[in-house]
Amino acid sequence: MFFDLTEEQMAVRDAARDFAQNVLKPGVIERDENQTFPAEQVKQLGELGFMGMMVSPEYGGGGMDTVSYVLAMEEISKVDASTSVCMSVNNSLVCWGLDKFGSEEQKQKYLVPLAKGEKIGAFCLSEPEAGSDATSQRTTAIDMGDHYLLNGTKNWITNGGTASTYLVMAQTDADKGHRGINCLIVEKGMDGFIIGAKENKLGIRGSDTHTLMFQDVKVPKENRIGEDGFGFKFAMKTLEGGRIGIAAQALGIASGAMELAVAYSKERSAFGKPINQHQAVAFKLADMATEIEGARLLCLKAAWLKDQKQPFGKHSAMAKLRASEVAMKTTVEAVQVHGGYGFVKEYHVERLMRDAKITQIYEGTSEVQRIVISRAVLDGQ
Ligand code: CAA
Repeated sequence: MFFDLTEEQMAVRDAARDFAQNVLKPGVIERDENQTFPAEQVKQLGELGFMGMMVSPEYGGGGMDTVSYVLAMEEISKVDASTSVCMSVNNSLVCWGLDKFGSEEQKQKYLVPLAKGEKIGAFCLSEPEAGSDATSQRTTAIDMGDHYLLNGTKNWITNGGTASTYLVMAQTDADKGHRGINCLIVEKGMDGFIIGAKENKLGIRGSDTHTLMFQDVKVPKENRIGEDGFGFKFAMKTLEGGRIGIAAQALGIASGAMELAVAYSKERSAFGKPINQHQAVAFKLADMATEIEGARLLCLKAAWLKDQKQPFGKHSAMAKLRASEVAMKTTVEAVQVHGGYGFVKEYHVERLMRDAKITQIYEGTSEVQRIVISRAVLDGQ
């Protein structure tokens, strides 16, 4: 077993840390308060090669491994989870899906600008009545010969307003159940494609979450990804990797909160000594550090398995389940360590606590992760 990072992986982590501290941190409180999408910051992430990290340079990507992606996601998420969810969706749900399953024409037309960060992508699976139960797609894509006629509504779509390229799951043949679902590449501006209002959220308030409506949108046949009926499996395979990204986001939220709690515990004194000299605080820091390290190992194991081209679905679900629980618990405790200061925005930990909650919900709730893990365990994996 070998736990050391390579020189390249450490360089990626350090670049992400510098970017987070120097570019993302200034203004993060205001962007959260005003629900401002970090457009300029995301553009700069693209210039660093962080919007298509795992795509080969041939298609405009950074040619990095999944371990590097986890390291970068952790550093960015320590400071700004609104930016990191945009980065995660673009990298692992949109770019990876197109890279792995797209045709050469689709890669040239859609993947290259997405991987370069010139355009942003969105992944559209969730519907008002199909969240965890993703096979129950109500959005329809009727086969009209040379095109599909797309009708329906998608909700909770990250990058919903700012994206240019949308991967939309829709039912073509209801009699076939999930085997009748297709994934279509939809472009912003297609007739009948309507972007609904931005959601006013508890956390990740800078991220751009919208409901999308499709009313008789004509999508060319060549925009279908894979064979007819491949859409549900496409979504499941893509989400396996996406869950590594969200696990790393949760890990970053947790480790960012812990770093703030450690720093504050050194500055603040009570009862005649720094608060970290009281076991009530020191033991909280010990528990945070132990749980974060466990979550980090799961994230890195899932990423490593993916890089080794071994099955990683069970581990990505485990990483997301564990890291999101650690994020929630750690951020609550970090607020507690800060006392009253933890409850005000200037100290950053209340935002991390609000941001943590969504990691237990999106890209599959904790209950969905437990379904995936228990099925794998029962299957002898
Ligand atoms: N890889 C390949 N195929 C898979 C698969 C995988 N990981 N998981 C399932 N499948 C296949 C199965 O083999 C089966 O195919 P066959 O019948 O041909 O064998 C088919 O898919 C159906 O699978 P299940 O019977 O297991 O499906 P299910 O109805 O029991 O659901 C589930 C399983 C795990 C709960 C799944 O529905 C699921 O993951 N739900 C959550 C969806 C989700 O994560 N949504 C979030 C959307 S993204 C988001 O949050 C937006 C954002 O912007 C961040």
